Amino acid sequence: MKRRLETLYLDLMKQTLAFTLWPEPPTPINTFSSAAPPLMRLLISVVSGILRFKQLQLVRERGYTLAQREEGHMWPGYAHTMIGLKRLDNLQLCVESVIREGIEGDLIETGVWRGGACIFMRAILAAYAIEDRKVYVADSFEGLPKPDVEKFPVDKGDRRYIQRFLAVSQDEVENNFKRYGLLDGQVVFLKGWLKDTLPHAPIEKLAVLRLDGVMYGSTMDALVNLYPKLSKGGFCIIDDYALPGCKRAVDDFITEKGIYSEMKVVDWTGRYWRKE
Ligand SMILES: C[S@@+](CC[C@H](N)C(=O)[O-])C[C@H]1O[C@@H](n2cnc3c(N)ncnc32)[C@H](O)[C@@H]1O
Repeated sequence: MKRRLETLYLDLMKQTLAFTLWPEPPTPINTFSSAAPPLMRLLISVVSGILRFKQLQLVRERGYTLAQREEGHMWPGYAHTMIGLKRLDNLQLCVESVIREGIEGDLIETGVWRGGACIFMRAILAAYAIEDRKVYVADSFEGLPKPDVEKFPVDKGDRRYIQRFLAVSQDEVENNFKRYGLLDGQVVFLKGWLKDTLPHAPIEKLAVLRLDGVMYGSTMDALVNLYPKLSKGGFCIIDDYALPGCKRAVDDFITEKGIYSEMKVVDWTGRYWRKE
């Protein structure tokens, strides 16, 4: 079977970004220790510090199945995206559709972590030599916010803001783009809390709006500020519909705005619809 170069390149990009070509190596134990009890954190940091002198590392086998890794059902130690192959396929379907059908606008992800989904969007534009669309990369680059309980009571008790694993700096994300040769003027970083950056973002029109901010507040901030800019025929993709806070925000927004577009299932947590 003859396959086009674009398809081969994009298939390889998905597998590389999701790190599914290789078995998951053991992860340094301090990668996930920021949410551990203080005494355990201290112990891990002391032992890791001593071992580092001997160029040794304390690591943990994580034992994820290939299915869990392909479905983005875990926090990966090494992948550049945690969204898994089905949601990458869905992102490709959406971006290729707007290109093919000439739906106007740029592409954005709100909540990018190591940047893999945005890198993939830039790769799709590169594969089809599209030079008149940008990829917006919106994140605090310091992890999730503390819940704003007055404004978004649904987020009460959410402690993901202490998870250092979710805090990836802009430098690291830029470097990840560079590794694939995809950092250029078509990539625009919006650094800061979504509630602050999105209202003033220099975005006129969007063709693909991908939300991956986990919490009610982050999802709502993105929908309120960006959905009006999504072109008719553009795609709204929700990464975290399996999480109660995100689901409530999406359900509240579509009820309030009277959105009747059919919401389609991508996988255990991904959903998307086309704006009518
Ligand atoms: C689950 S990760 C995103 C995963 C990513 N889309 C991928 O491809 O692997 C969530 C990200 O959302 C960001 N985030 C969540 N709420 C935010 C907010 N209100 N403002 C800015 N960044 C936020 C976090 O910093 C984190 O990088």
